Amino acid sequence: EGKHNLIIVSNRLPLSIKRVDGTYESSISSGGLVTALSGLTKSTQFRWLGWPGIEVKSNKDREEVSRTLNEHDATPIFLDSGLAHEHYNMFANRILWPILHYQSGVVFDDGPWQAYRRVNELFAAAIAEAAETGTLIWVHDYHLMLLPELLRNRLYEKNKHCAIGFSLHTPFPAGDFWRNLPVRKHLLEGLLSSDLIGFHTDEYKQNFQDTCAKIPNQIRYKNRLVCVGKFIVGIDPQKFAHTLQNPDVQDRIRSLEERYKDVKVIVGVDRLDHIKGLTQKLKGFDSFLEDYPELRDKIILIQVAVPSREDVKEYQELETELSTLAGKINGKYATPDGTPLLYMHRSVPFTELTALYSVADVCLLTSTRDGMNLVSFEFVACQEKRQGVLVLSEFAGAASFMREGSISFHPANTTEMSEALYAALKLDPDERRRKYEYLRDFVNTHTSAKWGQTFIEKLSQRCRQPGKAC
Ligand code: UDP
Ligand code: G6P
Repeated sequence: EGKHNLIIVSNRLPLSIKRVDGTYESSISSGGLVTALSGLTKSTQFRWLGWPGIEVKSNKDREEVSRTLNEHDATPIFLDSGLAHEHYNMFANRILWPILHYQSGVVFDDGPWQAYRRVNELFAAAIAEAAETGTLIWVHDYHLMLLPELLRNRLYEKNKHCAIGFSLHTPFPAGDFWRNLPVRKHLLEGLLSSDLIGFHTDEYKQNFQDTCAKIPNQIRYKNRLVCVGKFIVGIDPQKFAHTLQNPDVQDRIRSLEERYKDVKVIVGVDRLDHIKGLTQKLKGFDSFLEDYPELRDKIILIQVAVPSREDVKEYQELETELSTLAGKINGKYATPDGTPLLYMHRSVPFTELTALYSVADVCLLTSTRDGMNLVSFEFVACQEKRQGVLVLSEFAGAASFMREGSISFHPANTTEMSEALYAALKLDPDERRRKYEYLRDFVNTHTSAKWGQTFIEKLSQRCRQPGKAC
């Protein structure tokens, strides 16, 4: 493997650069896209191009940042801060992300849209420079939907022939929702310059195809054939298995088990984002404590809310709302013996995360919409011993594959959520094993490595035989 000349492009790189006390520091980036792509580095070689997460002005500093990223086979595309802010915060995360996740009340604004176009153009220029004829170019996610078209034009000017693939990591919404976006046609046309477009589920793929049917010549677009497919993204389960064997992690697991020996642990890990349904989760948990008072001192919900997109107003407001709600719940139910909710607003190191997944009896995920949700996979990968129960919102992409193995519910229905939690805690051991084995088999057979190989294989076929039917 690793024989392809492959360039991966995403807005977010595996490391994000921050400025601390006058020097540049890098930290591992959060989120599912980085997890999935990092998960295929063992089996596939590639160069990774993207935005470093910060403005770097002087050439000297740019060299320093480039060196740091190069150690991880990543190359930065530098943007000035005003432009990055308009592109990332104002268009991608305030306009596009909510529409892709069926959130209403989005206000379109032309300034951010122009910045979005500009950033996609700058990416196109950088990648056209870096690619050679025969390079496979795999573009990721909603920040870069115009890139396939802009890039194809640039490559054409330079007389370079490359196959372009695109993978969306979010849902693609139903046509009626997508229509709310006045620039939808440009985005669609941007995507249709790809040779291959990948979605996480059949539903997203179908929504996209239905939308394209409203543009004439959908399959042959501008005299080129565009293939569309479902490619199931996953994690690297072995990475979790290995980490769990680490003696420090084993110690940590023992100490957490000791600490929580008298209670059942429910775990939640989510970026602090509206789509994760965290407000709903806390309200549902409140109902649960109300409905089953006999369980109040027998359980704890440990909720990790990973800070995310903190310059966006809606994310700041959500953070305030959640800390208020968490405070209220503990105010209501805490006793001198303890509190039923442990709410952490910070990111946790990987070793700590695996220990936490492993000591939990239940994982509760409440997304109102979610492209896939890799946290559900990670919980399963860490539960070989305990064989805990996954309580998973029917709106997570993962639910279309995991329903048999999990307990599913509607995240806005607090009664359903409360009953689902109760059912998980009381699940019959045989049924619990059956469900767990189902999930374990799914997670082990749908890894990030397999996802990458399948997509790249299909893309390189498209490169060799662009006219061949999909
Ligand atoms: N994660 C993280 N930092 C943390 C805790 C978790 O980066 O402090 C990771 C988590 O392990 C998972 C990813 O963030 O791999 C979240 O991916 P998911 O697909 O569930 O959701 P996304 O954040 O991409 O919407
Ligand atoms: C989701 C998106 C990714 C993004 C991640 C973290 O998974 O699909 O593209 O990288 O969230 O968000 P951030 O804004 O920090 O990149």
